[in-house]
Amino acid sequence: MTQKLLEIINVGKSYGQSAVLSNASLSISEGEFIALVGMSGGGKSTLLRMLAGLEDVSSGDIIQDGIKLEGLNKSARVMFQEDRLLPWMNVLENVMLDKRNREQRAEALQLLKQVELEDYVQQFPTQLSGGQRQRVALARALMAHPRLLLLDEPLGALDALTRGKMQNLIHKVCQNKSITTFLVTHDINEAVRMADRIAIIKNGTIWRTIDNPYRGKESIADKEKEVEISEKILAEILN
Ligand SMILES: Nc1ncnc2c1ncn2[C@@H]1O[C@H](COP(=O)(O)OP(=O)(O)OP(=O)(O)O)[C@@H](O)[C@H]1O
Ligand SMILES: [Mg+2]
Repeated sequence: MTQKLLEIINVGKSYGQSAVLSNASLSISEGEFIALVGMSGGGKSTLLRMLAGLEDVSSGDIIQDGIKLEGLNKSARVMFQEDRLLPWMNVLENVMLDKRNREQRAEALQLLKQVELEDYVQQFPTQLSGGQRQRVALARALMAHPRLLLLDEPLGALDALTRGKMQNLIHKVCQNKSITTFLVTHDINEAVRMADRIAIIKNGTIWRTIDNPYRGKESIADKEKEVEISEKILAEILN
């Protein structure tokens, strides 16, 4: 049996009188790539922030490695729609941040190669395209050796072509490193293209999860299955 990294158990979240989530439950296995989809305002980012420990749960528990999550989740890193790079640092410095020894520099360069930015290490964020900036943000997140990578619409601001390339790149890098990845997206096709399993958030809870054994497969039959799953998810969200 695969080891569980995270257990979200009957989690609820309210802001004042308004309940955003109630009784949301989801288990995430070590190394799994899971996508969370659902309507705008449905509580996706709220759940992601709770996994990062940036927000408290109102009820229920989040268990990581058998231990209740309290305060900031130090083994998680978050990537948002905006890159949050430091404009006064170049690409390499943005990836290294406070890590400055020779091995760490070599590691940062290696990561920048993996995100295809080896020729841009001396550039500053303002000199990069949106897709390039997001790749720097990915390398920076990976530099922290996260056990859990939390992605909140990281490709939302990119054009369709760049977005498709980034989906492949993020997937490849996360799979190579066996990082457990939790992707929030409103784009169902993106979820189906990237995730092993898709969780649907609806009516303030995890409505259901759908396995996606056809992810990234080349055969036409598998591609057709991908389309079938996308349509099924859309119907689940809308009905
Ligand atoms: N800090 C906050 N204070 C009060 N209400 C909040 C706060 N953060 C989120 N909410 C509310 O919680 C609900 C869920 O918000 P959330 O950002 O989680 O949705 P989402 O599913 O990520 O939506 P989107 O797809 O548009 O990003 C919304 O109604 C929002 O107004
Ligand atoms: Mg959101």
